[in-house]
Amino acid sequence: IKSEPTVFVIFGGTGDLNARKLAPALYNLFLDGWLPKQFSIIGTGRTQLTDEQFRKNLNEDINNFSRSGKADKEKWAEFQKNVYYQVSDAKDAETYKEFGKRVEAHAAEWKVRPNVIYYLAVSPTFFPIITSNLAKAKLTDDVEHVRVVIEKPFGHDLESAKELNKLLAGLFDDKQIYHIDHYLGKETVQNIMAFRFANSILEPIWNRNYIEHVQISVTEQLGVEDRGDYYDGSGAMRDMIQNHLLQLLCLVAMETPVSFNADEIRNRKVDVLHAMRRFSPEDVRMSAVRGQYAKGWMEGKEVPGYREEAKVDPNSNTETFAAIKFFVDNWRWQGVPFYVRTGKRLHQSSSVITIQFKDVPHKIFPTEAAESWQQNRLIISIQPEMSIRLQVQAKRPGLDMILNTVDMVFDYKGTYTNQAPEAYETLLLDTMLGDQTLFMRGDQIEAAWDLIMPILSTWTNKKSLNFPNYSAYSWGPESAEALIARDGFTWFSLPLKNTKK
Ligand code: BG6
Repeated sequence: IKSEPTVFVIFGGTGDLNARKLAPALYNLFLDGWLPKQFSIIGTGRTQLTDEQFRKNLNEDINNFSRSGKADKEKWAEFQKNVYYQVSDAKDAETYKEFGKRVEAHAAEWKVRPNVIYYLAVSPTFFPIITSNLAKAKLTDDVEHVRVVIEKPFGHDLESAKELNKLLAGLFDDKQIYHIDHYLGKETVQNIMAFRFANSILEPIWNRNYIEHVQISVTEQLGVEDRGDYYDGSGAMRDMIQNHLLQLLCLVAMETPVSFNADEIRNRKVDVLHAMRRFSPEDVRMSAVRGQYAKGWMEGKEVPGYREEAKVDPNSNTETFAAIKFFVDNWRWQGVPFYVRTGKRLHQSSSVITIQFKDVPHKIFPTEAAESWQQNRLIISIQPEMSIRLQVQAKRPGLDMILNTVDMVFDYKGTYTNQAPEAYETLLLDTMLGDQTLFMRGDQIEAAWDLIMPILSTWTNKKSLNFPNYSAYSWGPESAEALIARDGFTWFSLPLKNTKK
Protein backbone atom coordinates (compact mmCIF):
# COMPACT_ATOMS: atom_id res chain seq x y z
CA ILE A 1 0.00 0.00 0.00
CA LYS A 2 1.15 3.45 -0.87
CA SER A 3 -0.34 6.74 0.14
CA GLU A 4 -0.69 9.50 -2.43
CA PRO A 5 0.73 13.03 -1.95
CA THR A 6 -1.24 14.57 0.88
CA VAL A 7 -1.93 17.92 2.48
CA PHE A 8 -3.14 17.78 6.08
CA VAL A 9 -4.93 20.83 7.40
CA ILE A 10 -5.29 20.55 11.14
CA PHE A 11 -7.88 22.81 12.73
CA GLY A 12 -6.97 23.09 16.41
CA GLY A 13 -3.31 23.03 15.39
CA THR A 14 -2.24 24.54 18.71
CA GLY A 15 -4.55 22.28 20.74
CA ASP A 16 -4.06 19.33 22.99
CA LEU A 17 -5.10 16.61 20.55
CA ASN A 18 -2.60 17.72 17.95
CA ALA A 19 0.13 17.96 20.57
CA ARG A 20 -0.48 14.59 22.19
CA LYS A 21 -1.74 12.43 19.37
CA LEU A 22 -1.74 13.82 15.82
CA ALA A 23 1.71 15.36 15.56
CA PRO A 24 3.47 12.36 17.18
CA ALA A 25 1.45 9.99 14.99
CA LEU A 26 2.35 11.85 11.78
CA TYR A 27 5.99 11.97 12.80
CA ASN A 28 6.07 8.22 13.50
CA LEU A 29 4.38 7.50 10.18
CA PHE A 30 7.12 9.58 8.59
CA LEU A 31 9.87 7.69 10.45
CA ASP A 32 8.43 4.35 9.41
CA GLY A 33 8.18 5.41 5.78
CA TRP A 34 4.38 5.50 5.57
CA LEU A 35 4.03 9.15 4.62
CA PRO A 36 4.24 9.88 0.92
CA LYS A 37 7.34 11.71 -0.33
CA GLN A 38 5.20 14.75 -0.97
CA PHE A 39 3.27 15.77 2.10
CA SER A 40 2.47 18.93 3.92
CA ILE A 41 1.07 19.56 7.39
CA ILE A 42 -0.64 22.88 7.89
CA GLY A 43 -1.60 23.65 11.46
CA THR A 44 -4.21 26.33 11.85
CA GLY A 45 -5.81 28.25 14.68
CA ARG A 46 -6.41 31.72 16.07
CA THR A 47 -3.05 32.01 17.83
CA GLN A 48 -0.52 34.13 15.96
CA LEU A 49 2.43 31.91 15.19
CA THR A 50 5.09 31.77 12.52
CA ASP A 51 5.96 28.53 10.76
CA GLU A 52 9.14 28.47 12.83
CA GLN A 53 7.31 28.81 16.13
CA PHE A 54 4.80 26.14 15.18
CA ARG A 55 7.58 23.76 14.19
CA LYS A 56 9.31 24.37 17.51
CA ASN A 57 6.08 23.57 19.39
CA LEU A 58 5.55 20.37 17.44
CA ASN A 59 9.12 19.34 18.10
CA GLU A 60 8.51 19.67 21.84
CA ASP A 61 5.22 17.77 21.56
CA ILE A 62 6.93 14.95 19.74
CA ASN A 63 9.73 14.84 22.31
CA ASN A 64 7.13 14.64 25.06
CA PHE A 65 4.52 12.34 23.60
CA SER A 66 5.90 10.23 20.77
CA ARG A 67 6.22 6.48 21.33
CA SER A 68 9.53 6.64 19.46
CA GLY A 69 10.96 9.03 22.05
CA LYS A 70 12.87 12.22 21.37
CA ALA A 71 12.95 13.37 17.76
CA ASP A 72 16.15 12.53 15.96
CA LYS A 73 17.92 15.70 14.74
CA GLU A 74 18.33 14.77 11.10
CA LYS A 75 14.94 13.13 10.73
CA TRP A 76 13.27 16.07 12.36
CA ALA A 77 15.05 18.51 10.03
CA GLU A 78 13.68 16.59 7.08
CA PHE A 79 10.15 16.31 8.55
CA GLN A 80 9.78 19.92 9.60
CA LYS A 81 10.38 21.25 6.08
CA ASN A 82 6.86 20.06 5.38
CA VAL A 83 5.24 21.75 8.38
CA TYR A 84 3.50 25.12 8.13
CA TYR A 85 1.20 27.30 10.15
CA GLN A 86 -1.73 29.39 8.95
CA VAL A 87 -3.43 31.85 11.30
CA SER A 88 -7.17 31.57 10.84
CA ASP A 89 -10.50 32.51 12.28
CA ALA A 90 -12.91 29.61 11.87
CA LYS A 91 -15.82 32.03 11.53
CA ASP A 92 -14.23 34.14 8.82
CA ALA A 93 -15.02 32.65 5.41
CA GLU A 94 -12.19 34.70 3.85
CA THR A 95 -9.50 32.79 5.77
CA TYR A 96 -10.46 29.58 4.05
CA LYS A 97 -9.25 30.87 0.70
CA GLU A 98 -5.74 30.67 2.15
CA PHE A 99 -6.06 26.90 2.48
CA GLY A 100 -7.17 26.73 -1.12
CA LYS A 101 -4.14 28.75 -2.24
CA ARG A 102 -1.77 26.55 -0.28
CA VAL A 103 -3.26 23.36 -1.72
CA GLU A 104 -2.97 24.77 -5.25
CA ALA A 105 0.64 25.79 -4.62
CA HIS A 106 1.46 22.25 -3.52
CA ALA A 107 -0.39 20.78 -6.47
CA ALA A 108 1.64 22.98 -8.85
CA GLU A 109 4.92 22.19 -7.11
CA TRP A 110 4.28 18.43 -6.94
CA LYS A 111 2.65 18.33 -10.37
CA VAL A 112 -0.12 16.14 -9.04
CA ARG A 113 -3.54 16.60 -7.44
CA PRO A 114 -2.92 15.78 -3.75
CA ASN A 115 -5.31 14.31 -1.23
CA VAL A 116 -6.42 16.98 1.19
CA ILE A 117 -7.42 15.99 4.69
CA TYR A 118 -9.17 18.54 6.84
CA TYR A 119 -8.83 17.35 10.42
CA LEU A 120 -11.21 19.01 12.88
CA ALA A 121 -9.33 18.68 16.17
CA VAL A 122 -11.62 21.27 17.72
CA SER A 123 -14.64 21.45 20.01
CA PRO A 124 -17.78 20.14 18.28
CA THR A 125 -19.36 23.59 18.49
CA PHE A 126 -17.05 24.48 15.60
CA PHE A 127 -18.00 21.54 13.37
CA PRO A 128 -20.89 23.32 11.61
CA ILE A 129 -19.07 26.56 10.95
CA ILE A 130 -15.83 24.99 9.76
CA THR A 131 -17.44 22.42 7.50
CA SER A 132 -19.83 25.00 6.04
CA ASN A 133 -17.04 27.46 5.40
CA LEU A 134 -14.89 24.79 3.76
CA ALA A 135 -17.76 24.03 1.43
CA LYS A 136 -18.47 27.71 0.80
CA ALA A 137 -14.85 28.23 -0.22
CA LYS A 138 -15.32 25.35 -2.70
CA LEU A 139 -12.62 23.31 -1.03
CA THR A 140 -14.63 20.12 -0.67
CA ASP A 141 -16.05 19.50 -4.15
CA ASP A 142 -13.37 17.07 -5.20
CA VAL A 143 -14.91 13.92 -3.74
CA GLU A 144 -11.97 11.75 -4.79
CA HIS A 145 -9.31 13.78 -3.02
CA VAL A 146 -10.85 15.76 -0.18
CA ARG A 147 -11.70 14.19 3.19
CA VAL A 148 -12.84 15.56 6.49
CA VAL A 149 -12.03 13.95 9.83
CA ILE A 150 -14.05 14.67 12.92
CA GLU A 151 -13.60 13.64 16.51
CA LYS A 152 -16.24 12.64 19.02
CA PRO A 153 -18.55 13.70 20.60
CA PHE A 154 -20.77 13.14 17.57
CA GLY A 155 -23.72 14.94 19.07
CA HIS A 156 -24.95 15.09 22.63
CA ASP A 157 -28.04 12.96 22.06
CA LEU A 158 -29.91 11.33 19.20
CA GLU A 159 -31.42 14.59 17.97
CA SER A 160 -28.14 16.50 17.80
CA ALA A 161 -26.38 13.50 16.24
CA LYS A 162 -29.02 13.44 13.51
CA GLU A 163 -28.56 17.15 12.96
CA LEU A 164 -24.82 16.76 12.64
CA ASN A 165 -25.23 13.88 10.20
CA LYS A 166 -27.68 15.91 8.17
CA LEU A 167 -25.33 18.84 8.04
CA LEU A 168 -22.39 16.66 6.94
CA ALA A 169 -24.51 14.78 4.42
CA GLY A 170 -25.50 18.11 2.87
CA LEU A 171 -21.87 19.15 2.43
CA PHE A 172 -19.95 15.97 1.70
CA ASP A 173 -20.23 12.64 0.03
CA ASP A 174 -20.28 9.73 2.51
CA LYS A 175 -16.89 8.56 1.41
CA GLN A 176 -15.34 11.90 2.40
CA ILE A 177 -16.44 11.69 6.05
CA TYR A 178 -14.22 10.05 8.68
CA HIS A 179 -15.67 9.86 12.20
CA ILE A 180 -12.81 8.85 14.48
CA ASP A 181 -13.27 6.41 17.32
CA HIS A 182 -9.67 5.90 18.35
CA TYR A 183 -10.46 2.55 20.00
CA LEU A 184 -10.97 1.07 16.54
CA GLY A 185 -7.40 1.96 15.64
CA LYS A 186 -5.90 0.07 18.56
CA GLU A 187 -3.87 -2.91 17.43
CA THR A 188 -5.56 -5.30 19.87
CA VAL A 189 -9.01 -4.11 18.82
CA GLN A 190 -8.25 -4.66 15.14
CA ASN A 191 -7.14 -8.12 16.09
CA ILE A 192 -10.62 -9.06 17.33
CA MET A 193 -11.79 -9.40 13.75
CA ALA A 194 -8.65 -11.24 12.69
CA PHE A 195 -9.00 -13.61 15.61
CA ARG A 196 -12.69 -14.27 15.05
CA PHE A 197 -12.74 -14.53 11.27
CA ALA A 198 -9.36 -16.05 10.43
CA ASN A 199 -9.67 -19.08 12.73
CA SER A 200 -12.06 -21.90 12.09
CA ILE A 201 -12.18 -23.20 15.66
CA LEU A 202 -14.03 -20.23 17.13
CA GLU A 203 -17.12 -19.79 15.00
CA PRO A 204 -18.83 -23.04 16.07
CA ILE A 205 -18.73 -22.03 19.72
CA TRP A 206 -19.22 -18.30 19.28
CA ASN A 207 -22.88 -18.24 20.23
CA ARG A 208 -25.48 -18.72 22.94
CA ASN A 209 -25.00 -22.50 22.96
CA TYR A 210 -21.50 -22.20 24.40
CA ILE A 211 -21.08 -18.66 25.68
CA GLU A 212 -22.62 -17.86 29.04
CA HIS A 213 -21.91 -14.19 29.23
CA VAL A 214 -19.60 -11.47 27.95
CA GLN A 215 -17.94 -8.66 29.89
CA ILE A 216 -16.42 -5.53 28.45
CA SER A 217 -14.56 -3.50 31.00
CA VAL A 218 -12.74 -0.24 30.28
CA THR A 219 -11.48 1.20 33.52
CA GLU A 220 -9.23 4.18 34.12
CA GLN A 221 -7.23 5.37 37.09
CA LEU A 222 -7.24 8.90 35.74
CA GLY A 223 -9.84 11.38 36.90
CA VAL A 224 -11.28 14.06 34.62
CA GLU A 225 -7.99 15.96 34.67
CA ASP A 226 -8.43 19.39 33.08
CA ARG A 227 -11.44 18.38 30.96
CA GLY A 228 -14.07 19.18 33.61
CA ASP A 229 -15.95 21.63 31.40
CA TYR A 230 -16.46 19.08 28.64
CA TYR A 231 -16.91 16.06 30.89
CA ASP A 232 -19.42 17.58 33.25
CA GLY A 233 -21.83 18.05 30.36
CA SER A 234 -21.15 14.56 29.13
CA GLY A 235 -20.46 11.74 31.63
CA ALA A 236 -19.36 8.14 31.22
CA MET A 237 -22.32 7.05 29.08
CA ARG A 238 -21.76 9.70 26.43
CA ASP A 239 -17.99 9.83 26.72
CA MET A 240 -17.27 6.10 26.60
CA ILE A 241 -20.25 3.77 26.23
CA GLN A 242 -21.99 5.46 23.30
CA ASN A 243 -18.85 5.02 21.26
CA HIS A 244 -15.85 2.96 22.45
CA LEU A 245 -17.62 0.27 24.48
CA LEU A 246 -20.46 -0.26 22.04
CA GLN A 247 -17.96 -0.50 19.20
CA LEU A 248 -16.11 -3.23 21.11
CA LEU A 249 -19.39 -4.99 21.75
CA CYS A 250 -20.20 -4.86 18.04
CA LEU A 251 -16.86 -6.46 17.17
CA VAL A 252 -17.55 -9.33 19.55
CA ALA A 253 -21.16 -9.83 18.54
CA MET A 254 -21.19 -9.11 14.78
CA GLU A 255 -21.93 -11.73 12.16
CA THR A 256 -19.19 -12.66 9.71
CA PRO A 257 -18.94 -10.01 6.97
CA VAL A 258 -18.78 -11.36 3.42
CA SER A 259 -15.53 -9.49 2.78
CA PHE A 260 -13.13 -7.09 4.41
CA ASN A 261 -14.78 -4.20 2.65
CA ALA A 262 -15.46 -1.13 4.84
CA ASP A 263 -19.20 -1.08 4.30
CA GLU A 264 -19.63 -4.84 4.57
CA ILE A 265 -18.02 -4.66 8.00
CA ARG A 266 -19.89 -1.58 9.09
CA ASN A 267 -23.18 -3.13 7.97
CA ARG A 268 -22.62 -6.13 10.20
CA LYS A 269 -21.74 -3.87 13.11
CA VAL A 270 -24.81 -1.71 12.73
CA ASP A 271 -26.92 -4.90 12.64
CA VAL A 272 -25.78 -5.59 16.20
CA LEU A 273 -26.82 -2.15 17.40
CA HIS A 274 -30.21 -2.63 15.77
CA ALA A 275 -30.63 -6.00 17.47
CA MET A 276 -29.82 -4.70 20.94
CA ARG A 277 -32.72 -4.72 23.37
CA ARG A 278 -34.16 -1.31 24.16
CA PHE A 279 -34.60 -0.29 27.81
CA SER A 280 -37.87 0.45 29.57
CA PRO A 281 -37.60 2.66 32.70
CA GLU A 282 -37.86 -0.54 34.75
CA ASP A 283 -34.99 -2.11 32.76
CA VAL A 284 -32.94 0.98 33.49
CA ARG A 285 -33.57 0.52 37.20
CA MET A 286 -32.58 -3.14 37.07
CA SER A 287 -29.84 -3.16 34.45
CA ALA A 288 -28.08 0.21 34.48
CA VAL A 289 -25.88 1.52 37.25
CA ARG A 290 -24.14 4.85 37.52
CA GLY A 291 -21.61 6.23 39.92
CA GLN A 292 -19.47 9.22 40.75
CA TYR A 293 -16.12 9.18 42.48
CA ALA A 294 -15.46 10.61 45.91
CA LYS A 295 -12.09 11.84 47.00
CA GLY A 296 -9.64 9.26 48.18
CA TRP A 297 -6.11 7.98 47.98
CA MET A 298 -4.43 6.56 44.96
CA GLU A 299 -1.07 4.96 45.48
CA GLY A 300 -0.14 7.24 48.38
CA LYS A 301 -1.48 10.44 46.85
CA GLU A 302 -4.66 12.19 47.91
CA VAL A 303 -6.95 12.86 44.96
CA PRO A 304 -10.04 15.12 44.87
CA GLY A 305 -13.58 13.87 44.45
CA TYR A 306 -15.30 14.56 41.13
CA ARG A 307 -17.31 17.46 42.53
CA GLU A 308 -14.09 19.12 43.69
CA GLU A 309 -12.44 18.91 40.28
CA ALA A 310 -11.72 22.10 38.30
CA LYS A 311 -14.56 23.31 36.05
CA VAL A 312 -17.03 20.82 37.55
CA ASP A 313 -20.29 21.89 39.18
CA PRO A 314 -19.91 21.27 42.96
CA ASN A 315 -23.41 19.71 42.94
CA SER A 316 -22.88 17.80 39.73
CA ASN A 317 -24.90 14.66 39.09
CA THR A 318 -22.76 13.64 36.13
CA GLU A 319 -21.79 9.99 36.22
CA THR A 320 -18.09 9.11 36.13
CA PHE A 321 -18.93 5.40 36.16
CA ALA A 322 -21.52 3.35 34.34
CA ALA A 323 -22.25 -0.37 34.20
CA ILE A 324 -24.95 -1.74 31.94
CA LYS A 325 -26.32 -5.17 31.18
CA PHE A 326 -27.24 -5.39 27.51
CA PHE A 327 -28.85 -8.10 25.42
CA VAL A 328 -28.51 -8.69 21.70
CA ASP A 329 -31.81 -10.07 20.51
CA ASN A 330 -30.90 -12.28 17.60
CA TRP A 331 -30.39 -16.00 17.01
CA ARG A 332 -26.73 -16.01 17.91
CA TRP A 333 -27.00 -14.16 21.20
CA GLN A 334 -30.49 -14.72 22.56
CA GLY A 335 -30.28 -14.85 26.37
CA VAL A 336 -26.55 -14.06 26.64
CA PRO A 337 -25.95 -11.00 28.82
CA PHE A 338 -23.28 -8.49 27.76
CA TYR A 339 -22.07 -6.60 30.81
CA VAL A 340 -20.17 -3.42 30.10
CA ARG A 341 -18.58 -1.11 32.62
CA THR A 342 -16.39 1.94 32.47
CA GLY A 343 -15.31 4.58 34.89
CA LYS A 344 -12.73 7.05 36.01
CA ARG A 345 -10.61 6.91 39.17
CA LEU A 346 -10.92 3.17 39.41
CA HIS A 347 -8.54 0.63 40.78
CA GLN A 348 -6.85 -0.17 37.51
CA SER A 349 -6.33 1.27 34.06
CA SER A 350 -7.18 -1.51 31.70
CA SER A 351 -9.46 -2.51 28.86
CA VAL A 352 -10.44 -6.16 28.82
CA ILE A 353 -13.08 -8.25 27.07
CA THR A 354 -13.98 -11.50 28.81
CA ILE A 355 -15.99 -14.22 27.11
CA GLN A 356 -17.13 -16.74 29.67
CA PHE A 357 -18.17 -20.15 28.35
CA LYS A 358 -20.78 -22.42 29.87
CA ASP A 359 -19.67 -24.99 32.40
CA VAL A 360 -19.10 -28.65 31.53
CA PRO A 361 -22.43 -30.50 31.51
CA HIS A 362 -21.30 -32.99 34.14
CA LYS A 363 -18.35 -32.85 36.54
CA ILE A 364 -16.60 -36.18 36.96
CA PHE A 365 -13.94 -34.95 39.38
CA PRO A 366 -14.57 -34.82 43.10
CA THR A 367 -14.98 -31.26 44.37
CA GLU A 368 -11.70 -31.50 46.35
CA ALA A 369 -9.83 -32.30 43.14
CA ALA A 370 -10.61 -28.90 41.74
CA GLU A 371 -8.54 -26.47 43.77
CA SER A 372 -9.78 -23.71 41.57
CA TRP A 373 -12.59 -24.49 39.23
CA GLN A 374 -13.26 -21.92 36.64
CA GLN A 375 -15.44 -22.14 33.57
CA ASN A 376 -13.47 -21.61 30.39
CA ARG A 377 -12.80 -18.01 29.61
CA LEU A 378 -11.37 -16.23 26.65
CA ILE A 379 -9.82 -12.97 27.75
CA ILE A 380 -8.97 -10.38 25.15
CA SER A 381 -6.80 -7.81 26.87
CA ILE A 382 -6.66 -4.60 24.89
CA GLN A 383 -4.45 -2.54 27.18
CA PRO A 384 -2.10 -2.13 28.95
CA GLU A 385 -1.37 -5.84 28.58
CA MET A 386 -1.85 -6.79 24.94
CA SER A 387 -2.81 -10.42 24.98
CA ILE A 388 -5.37 -13.10 24.36
CA ARG A 389 -5.71 -15.71 27.08
CA LEU A 390 -7.71 -18.89 27.04
CA GLN A 391 -8.34 -20.12 30.57
CA VAL A 392 -8.73 -23.87 30.81
CA GLN A 393 -8.71 -26.50 33.53
CA ALA A 394 -5.63 -28.70 33.68
CA LYS A 395 -4.13 -31.31 35.93
CA ARG A 396 -1.47 -30.08 38.28
CA PRO A 397 1.68 -32.27 38.02
CA GLY A 398 1.86 -34.76 40.85
CA LEU A 399 0.63 -38.14 41.93
CA ASP A 400 -2.77 -36.90 42.92
CA MET A 401 -5.48 -35.63 40.60
CA ILE A 402 -5.67 -31.94 41.37
CA LEU A 403 -7.10 -29.47 38.85
CA ASN A 404 -6.10 -25.87 38.39
CA THR A 405 -7.07 -23.11 36.03
CA VAL A 406 -4.23 -22.33 33.64
CA ASP A 407 -3.85 -19.73 30.91
CA MET A 408 -2.91 -20.47 27.32
CA VAL A 409 -1.50 -17.11 26.32
CA PHE A 410 -0.82 -15.19 23.15
CA ASP A 411 1.14 -12.22 24.38
CA TYR A 412 2.10 -9.54 21.88
CA LYS A 413 5.31 -8.64 23.68
CA GLY A 414 6.49 -12.24 23.80
CA THR A 415 5.50 -12.98 20.20
CA TYR A 416 6.47 -9.85 18.29
CA THR A 417 9.51 -7.67 18.63
CA ASN A 418 8.17 -4.71 16.66
CA GLN A 419 6.34 -2.02 18.58
CA ALA A 420 2.61 -1.77 17.88
CA PRO A 421 1.68 1.51 16.19
CA GLU A 422 -0.45 3.99 18.10
CA ALA A 423 -4.15 4.02 17.20
CA TYR A 424 -3.81 7.46 15.61
CA GLU A 425 -1.04 6.28 13.30
CA THR A 426 -3.27 3.54 11.93
CA LEU A 427 -6.23 5.87 11.58
CA LEU A 428 -4.33 8.75 10.00
CA LEU A 429 -2.79 6.39 7.49
CA ASP A 430 -6.25 5.06 6.67
CA THR A 431 -7.54 8.56 6.00
CA MET A 432 -4.70 8.98 3.50
CA LEU A 433 -5.45 5.63 1.90
CA GLY A 434 -9.16 6.38 1.77
CA ASP A 435 -10.03 3.32 3.87
CA GLN A 436 -13.07 3.86 6.10
CA THR A 437 -13.16 0.38 7.66
CA LEU A 438 -12.04 1.58 11.09
CA PHE A 439 -14.25 4.66 11.17
CA MET A 440 -17.77 5.02 12.50
CA ARG A 441 -20.51 5.55 9.98
CA GLY A 442 -23.31 8.07 10.56
CA ASP A 443 -25.99 5.39 10.91
CA GLN A 444 -23.93 3.52 13.52
CA ILE A 445 -23.61 6.66 15.55
CA GLU A 446 -27.36 7.23 15.44
CA ALA A 447 -28.12 3.60 16.29
CA ALA A 448 -25.84 3.80 19.34
CA TRP A 449 -27.56 6.99 20.51
CA ASP A 450 -30.95 5.45 19.91
CA LEU A 451 -29.98 2.56 22.18
CA ILE A 452 -28.74 4.63 25.09
CA MET A 453 -31.25 7.49 24.99
CA PRO A 454 -33.84 5.72 27.19
CA ILE A 455 -31.16 5.15 29.81
CA LEU A 456 -29.99 8.74 29.68
CA SER A 457 -33.48 10.18 29.88
CA THR A 458 -34.52 7.93 32.76
CA TRP A 459 -31.38 9.03 34.56
CA THR A 460 -32.00 12.70 33.85
CA ASN A 461 -35.50 12.49 35.26
CA LYS A 462 -34.35 10.86 38.45
CA LYS A 463 -32.47 13.39 40.50
CA SER A 464 -32.24 11.95 44.00
CA LEU A 465 -28.84 10.36 43.71
CA ASN A 466 -26.53 9.19 46.36
CA PHE A 467 -23.51 10.83 44.72
CA PRO A 468 -20.62 10.49 45.23
CA ASN A 469 -20.98 6.75 45.66
CA TYR A 470 -17.56 5.21 45.14
CA SER A 471 -14.17 6.11 46.41
CA ALA A 472 -11.16 6.73 44.27
CA TYR A 473 -9.12 3.62 43.59
CA SER A 474 -12.08 1.29 44.14
CA TRP A 475 -13.83 -0.79 41.48
CA GLY A 476 -16.84 1.53 41.41
CA PRO A 477 -20.12 1.57 43.31
CA GLU A 478 -21.39 -1.51 45.10
CA SER A 479 -24.47 -1.49 42.93
CA ALA A 480 -22.24 -2.44 39.99
CA GLU A 481 -21.13 -5.54 41.84
CA ALA A 482 -24.76 -6.30 42.61
CA LEU A 483 -25.77 -5.86 38.96
CA ILE A 484 -23.64 -8.82 37.91
CA ALA A 485 -23.81 -10.77 41.18
CA ARG A 486 -27.59 -11.07 40.81
CA ASP A 487 -26.92 -13.27 37.78
CA GLY A 488 -24.34 -15.32 39.65
CA PHE A 489 -21.23 -13.75 38.08
CA THR A 490 -18.46 -11.39 39.16
CA TRP A 491 -16.56 -8.74 37.26
CA PHE A 492 -13.31 -10.01 35.90
CA SER A 493 -10.03 -8.11 35.96
CA LEU A 494 -6.52 -9.18 35.06
CA PRO A 495 -4.07 -9.06 37.92
CA LEU A 496 -1.81 -6.33 36.57
CA LYS A 497 1.23 -4.87 38.17
CA ASN A 498 1.86 -1.18 37.92
CA THR A 499 -0.97 -0.04 35.69
CA LYS A 500 -0.40 3.62 36.49
CA LYS A 501 -1.05 5.93 33.54
C1 BG6 B 1 -11.61 9.31 25.23
C2 BG6 B 1 -12.43 9.84 26.37
O1 BG6 B 1 -12.40 9.13 24.10
O2 BG6 B 1 -11.04 8.06 25.61
C3 BG6 B 1 -11.58 9.98 27.63
O3 BG6 B 1 -12.97 11.10 26.02
C4 BG6 B 1 -10.88 8.68 27.95
O4 BG6 B 1 -12.37 10.41 28.73
C5 BG6 B 1 -10.17 8.14 26.72
O5 BG6 B 1 -9.95 8.93 28.99
C6 BG6 B 1 -9.61 6.75 26.97
O6 BG6 B 1 -8.80 6.37 25.91
P1 BG6 B 1 -7.58 5.39 26.12
O7 BG6 B 1 -7.04 5.18 24.75
O8 BG6 B 1 -6.62 6.06 27.05
O9 BG6 B 1 -8.14 4.14 26.73
